[in-house]
Amino acid sequence: MHLKWILILALALLEVLYLDGGVAAEWNGYMEMATAGPDLGQQLAAHLAPSTPPEVQVEAARAVIRRLVGPKSAKRFQVEVDKDLELRSFKITKLDNGRILLTGWDGVCACKAFHHYLKYYLNKDVDWFKMRIELPDNLRLPNATVVSISASPIIYHQNVCTWSYSFAWWSFQQWRRHLDWMALMGINLSIAPIQEAIWVEVYTEMGLSKEEIDDHLAGPAFQAWQRMGNIRGWAGPLKPEWRQFQLLLQQEILSAQRNLGMSVALPAFAGHVPRALSRLHPNTSFTDVQRWNQFPDRYCCGLFVEPTEPLFHQIATTFLQSVVTIYGSNHIFFCDPFNELEPPVAKPEYMRSTAAAIHNSMTAVDPEAIWLLQGWMFVKNPFWTPDMAEAFLTAVPRGRILVLDLQSEQFPQYELTHSYFGQPFIWCMLHNFGGTLGMFGSAKLINSGIEAARSMPNSSIVGTGITPEGIGQNYVVYSLTLERGWSRNSIDLDSWFRHFTVTRYGVKDESLAKAWLLLKNSVYSFHGLQKMRGQYVVTRRPSFNHDPFTWYNASDVLEAWHLLLSARVIIPLEDDRYDVYEHDLVDITRQFLQITADQLYVNLKSSFRKRQLPRFEFLSTRLLQLFDDLELILSSGRNFLLGNWLEQAKQVAPHPEDRKSFEFNARNQITAWGPNGQILDYACKQWSGLVKDYYKPRWSLFFDDVNVALHSQRPFNGSAFKQKVSQRIELPFSNKTDIYPTDPVENVWFISHTIFERWMGYTRDSLYLHNNRLSVPRKPAVE
Ligand SMILES: *[C@@H]1O[C@H](CO)[C@@H](O)[C@H](O)[C@H]1NC(C)=O
Ligand SMILES: *[C@@H]1O[C@H](CO)[C@@H](O)[C@H](O)[C@H]1NC(C)=O
Ligand SMILES: *[C@@H]1O[C@H](CO)[C@@H](O)[C@H](O)[C@H]1NC(C)=O
Ligand SMILES: *[C@@H]1O[C@H](CO)[C@@H](O)[C@H](O)[C@H]1NC(C)=O
Ligand SMILES: *[C@@H]1O[C@H](CO)[C@@H](O)[C@H](O)[C@H]1NC(C)=O
Ligand SMILES: *[C@@H]1O[C@H](CO)[C@@H](O)[C@H](O)[C@H]1NC(C)=O
Ligand SMILES: *[C@@H]1O[C@H](CO)[C@@H](O)[C@H](O)[C@H]1NC(C)=O
Repeated sequence: MHLKWILILALALLEVLYLDGGVAAEWNGYMEMATAGPDLGQQLAAHLAPSTPPEVQVEAARAVIRRLVGPKSAKRFQVEVDKDLELRSFKITKLDNGRILLTGWDGVCACKAFHHYLKYYLNKDVDWFKMRIELPDNLRLPNATVVSISASPIIYHQNVCTWSYSFAWWSFQQWRRHLDWMALMGINLSIAPIQEAIWVEVYTEMGLSKEEIDDHLAGPAFQAWQRMGNIRGWAGPLKPEWRQFQLLLQQEILSAQRNLGMSVALPAFAGHVPRALSRLHPNTSFTDVQRWNQFPDRYCCGLFVEPTEPLFHQIATTFLQSVVTIYGSNHIFFCDPFNELEPPVAKPEYMRSTAAAIHNSMTAVDPEAIWLLQGWMFVKNPFWTPDMAEAFLTAVPRGRILVLDLQSEQFPQYELTHSYFGQPFIWCMLHNFGGTLGMFGSAKLINSGIEAARSMPNSSIVGTGITPEGIGQNYVVYSLTLERGWSRNSIDLDSWFRHFTVTRYGVKDESLAKAWLLLKNSVYSFHGLQKMRGQYVVTRRPSFNHDPFTWYNASDVLEAWHLLLSARVIIPLEDDRYDVYEHDLVDITRQFLQITADQLYVNLKSSFRKRQLPRFEFLSTRLLQLFDDLELILSSGRNFLLGNWLEQAKQVAPHPEDRKSFEFNARNQITAWGPNGQILDYACKQWSGLVKDYYKPRWSLFFDDVNVALHSQRPFNGSAFKQKVSQRIELPFSNKTDIYPTDPVENVWFISHTIFERWMGYTRDSLYLHNNRLSVPRKPAVE
């Protein structure tokens, strides 16, 4: 064993001993006590809560507050952790010495109390990009007497994909900010998926060679899908130094979370193994994992060990034992054998024995194990008939499987499965796929959906949460969901959005409130069944087959933009509120250009169909100009730069010679997503740099080809274009090494205003049609 490993194990053991002291004593027949509804949730929550001593939680919560408001202001707050409070609750009071006393059932609840005071008494708020708040020395701290109990025993955050789409390059510094944010939101359950270093040990012991393991592990930007068995080896291999760094990072994250009283689910074995394992076990029955998104053989179709095989048990327990030794444990483990993969046998008995075998492999290591399962596999999947789902879910004792109802705001599964046949579940908002940008959300459905899940007869809901594939956009809906999850009652959305505006910009103003109410009623009012995947004309591969649509009136966004622009002079400069304002200006400008591109495209399509050459040329020129403006506004926003993503990737590369492979990973994930564009643009980003060197050149090439076709009276050959754009622009992009700025250009307001002036009259494009006596489309361009 390497010295490093011994060190890690020793550290881990220390941590386990320290964290687990007392857990066994608390365990007193949870299963017998299990009943439906909130009780089940409370028991589950109490069962999972780490036994971190109160003084450690107090110190962790105080440190969160210090980082947020600085050491001086932090002294004005006193933190206590009191286990005699109701489970999942906090209390705020003002002491005679003028300080604010924040008492929480645990560290997380104390942080939640602080956030509540900050937002509802001091009118200040955080967001993913702003985790520093200024409190002036002379600020009077208003008296408060608040007692609040979470209506959700568990508040959950994270999706296995978030770790690749958003967290891939993070070091602990970025994690620290995010963990602080999680605590302030009252989040107390998440996952710890990093596991490659452990697997390498397990596989090596089993007799696999280094080459065989390298063949299996995917690159640093694609680990989420390799872990789920979707792909193997793509953009790999992983250097040992990277695996080590990741493991240490995971330990650091875990210990920070537990210090605050959060629980973390650890990875368990789901059955996916390297192909080479069949060499060592010729007598074991393996199933070929089915092909995922047309990945070629080299990068897909690993093997699946049947959970009922002795080999499964052996691998599962060896792995889990290691995981628990290295990470400590809160008695909750996640694994998803069938995520976007069809089970090999369609029989309830098979599902039952499979689920039982998986859970048994967990209890063999930890008799108190709870299995955290993503309900994603049930969504719109005809395979999972109620019989199959029931067999699978009830194979595990009640309360020992916890289901994440993954996209409850749009496709809730808890009703179809009779509340998971009594197994506890968490209502989650998925909201985002691939970390794409675009203003979008379902404020009303979040509000009503949580209520509906709670009030359903015999509901087995035990919590609420968010499960975005990527973060960094639409903060407002995440903030809303997490507050709604804590709250017992429905939220009055109009006043919530009004207050959101006040805390966001640090000023109470009717026109700003109106801007956000317009957004609430337009972009944030989605309630359709379309699968929103952030695919808009600007980020899609050009073709005449797209059918863009919006569920709202574009003029609402235009008006909101106008109101925001007009508010410039009243935004306070202190507390970096102006930065937040500029961020929003960039985002709304981007949004309006995105919608306008959709509209231009619809007209382009019509002009092509009607062979109206001058109109086509006019509109295509307009679209290319729009790309220039999109690039310009994005280049002025700190959080909209390709350079940040690429530089972060290169920075965490273990050695200079790895930078190229890390950059390749970073670039490929957000463009081609695979060796030949297998999931092209799934994780597209409206970022400066990408617009200029990837999205615009594609449309430019497209217009060249279409123009040739139109001028020569020949049909436009779409498949020839596909090949050309793939070979000239899409695939080469992953291999490039151009450097992009990591600092924004100045003058956001001026750029935004100029673009506003230029594009607010986008309907004039139809006017152009009149002047040229071409037919005017009757319907509005985008419905
Ligand atoms: C969540 O935190 C609450 C209190 O903060 C606690 O009751 C519960 O045990 C925690 N749940 C988990 C899963 O950690
Ligand atoms: C705050 O208000 C409560 C309730 O009105 C009161 O009992 C308490 O004395 C006040 N605290 C301070 C410091 O004014
Ligand atoms: C596999 O089964 C064959 C025939 O039963 C036996 O001879 C062989 O030793 C087994 N191999 C392993 C690795 O168990
Ligand atoms: C709720 O559970 C009770 C007791 O198990 C049962 O009698 C009742 O039919 C259930 N109600 C619904 C709507 O499933
Ligand atoms: C969109 O809003 C504008 C301004 O309020 C209004 O004039 C127009 O009729 C609306 N269009 C649709 C399709 O609702
Ligand atoms: C379109 O292009 C493809 C690929 O270059 C070619 O195979 C095909 O024959 C072309 N189709 C037409 C109708 O020209
Ligand atoms: C990108 O580079 C890899 C090797 O690093 C090579 O296999 C691949 O063909 C290149 N792709 C393109 C489109 O140039």
